[in-house]
Amino acid sequence: MQISLETKPYAALGTDALVSYVFEEADPVQGRISELDQAANGLLRNLAKSGELTGKTLEMTLIHAPAGLKAARLLLVGAGKREQFTSATLRKIAGAALRYLKARSVKQLAFLIRENNATEEFTQSIAEGALAANFESDKYKTEKKNDKSIDTLVLTGYSDADRAAGEKGLSRGRIIAEAQNFARDLINEPSNKLTPKILAEKAEAMAKQAGLAVEILDEKKIADLKMGALLSVAQGGPEPPRVMVVTYTPAHLKPGAPVIGLIGKAVTFDTGGISIKPADGMEKMKYDMAGGATMLGVMRALAVLKPNVKVICVVPSTENMPGGTAQKPGDIQTAMSGKTIEVLNTDAEGRLILADGIHYAKQLGATHLIDAATLTGAIVVALANVNAGVFGSDQPFTDKFLASSKAAGEKMWQMPIDDDYREFIKGTVADIQNIGSGKGGGAITGAMFIKEFTGDSPWIHLDIAGTAWNDDAKPWLAKGPTGVALRTLVHLVMSY
Ligand code: BES
Ligand code: ZN
Ligand code: ZN
Repeated sequence: MQISLETKPYAALGTDALVSYVFEEADPVQGRISELDQAANGLLRNLAKSGELTGKTLEMTLIHAPAGLKAARLLLVGAGKREQFTSATLRKIAGAALRYLKARSVKQLAFLIRENNATEEFTQSIAEGALAANFESDKYKTEKKNDKSIDTLVLTGYSDADRAAGEKGLSRGRIIAEAQNFARDLINEPSNKLTPKILAEKAEAMAKQAGLAVEILDEKKIADLKMGALLSVAQGGPEPPRVMVVTYTPAHLKPGAPVIGLIGKAVTFDTGGISIKPADGMEKMKYDMAGGATMLGVMRALAVLKPNVKVICVVPSTENMPGGTAQKPGDIQTAMSGKTIEVLNTDAEGRLILADGIHYAKQLGATHLIDAATLTGAIVVALANVNAGVFGSDQPFTDKFLASSKAAGEKMWQMPIDDDYREFIKGTVADIQNIGSGKGGGAITGAMFIKEFTGDSPWIHLDIAGTAWNDDAKPWLAKGPTGVALRTLVHLVMSY
């Protein structure tokens, strides 16, 4: 999709559809919209009077051949209450409008920004919303939905004075949304098309193209490094594991600045291993690499956005298979850090591979750690598919992260992780065990296990099991992978 910014009068824009938005208030026909209303001899006021145009969130009002406009259609999207309007609302409006029009075979659209919204932040959110909405999971369909995709988007309603800020927002929004779609593409891949080896090849290609340093650890190097926890998961099947290390280094390294470590779980398929999962719904476990894909997407965006801090991304990847050589419940493994782990359930494999990923990221010099993982079904019980779970060992760092999640419009909720939960994973025959002792709090137990490998470093754990995949389409996003946490992480790293 081509996106451009236009300062010429919007009424003279020839396009398939002009989109704008109205607020839910006594008179939704105000400002720019009242200009349109006047040109159309009061049509919009009449629609408002009859109750067809209310401004309620994501209400769609489509008008064909609108008087006074060169556009073939006018689409007004409800923006909800003006006091509650944020860039997150605008992102959804842009996405929902695009998907609504795309379903009607529209090819070009123009988005008319409202008064006072022609800023960098709002423009970025329109670009992000539109590009994410244009993504379809139809790579393997012979008849593509994407043939219907929108070709051009013109952002309009900007003055000459707004242009520079608008262009900046547009370019940043494009970089971020394209990175998000890159991650979503990876997450969509089935496990026969995306093994750890293939994922590593794709990560390497992305990094080289983006100008990032990259190193792929193969099974031999992984064994040399004594990543026993990762290897214990990988031994269950024939596909060898990989660890991807992608590094961004800024031109000027400030002494004392943090080095951010981004660690992502990339289990390309999780059968559960010997503690095998039920057949029903198991196909979804192809998305058990969403954390890793998201971290790679973050790096892709950072390569262009050039933050001031160094970022080391470590993605451990394996399948979790129940082959004859698989680890068995009760097996004891030694992680790279030297800690011994009693594997009571082979389906709690994400925390095992993260244990070694995190230890390695620290060894490479990361001072502040963030991991993202589709770690537990328990986080879905706690927060459904609405909020991602956030666990943090350092409150100021966690607060900074949560502020970024707000700014990026991604819903996240902080969960507790105090020392009382340490009991749950205390080992009987080894240092720790990989599941809790059946007292509930499954998402917290998972986080507590990972914490064991973070030492004194400030650390944040994101459990995205409930939010990385949409079972149903949203008005602004296709069903399937969401790319959740990418925007928040990019915002956070850029804020240093
Ligand atoms: N990959 C799963 C978690 C998951 C569940 C992701 C649902 C996406 C949707 C993870 O490896 C797992 O199996 N966790 C177990 C842990 C348990 C054995 C302690 C779980 O949540 O059941
Ligand atoms: Zn599992
Ligand atoms: Zn898993």
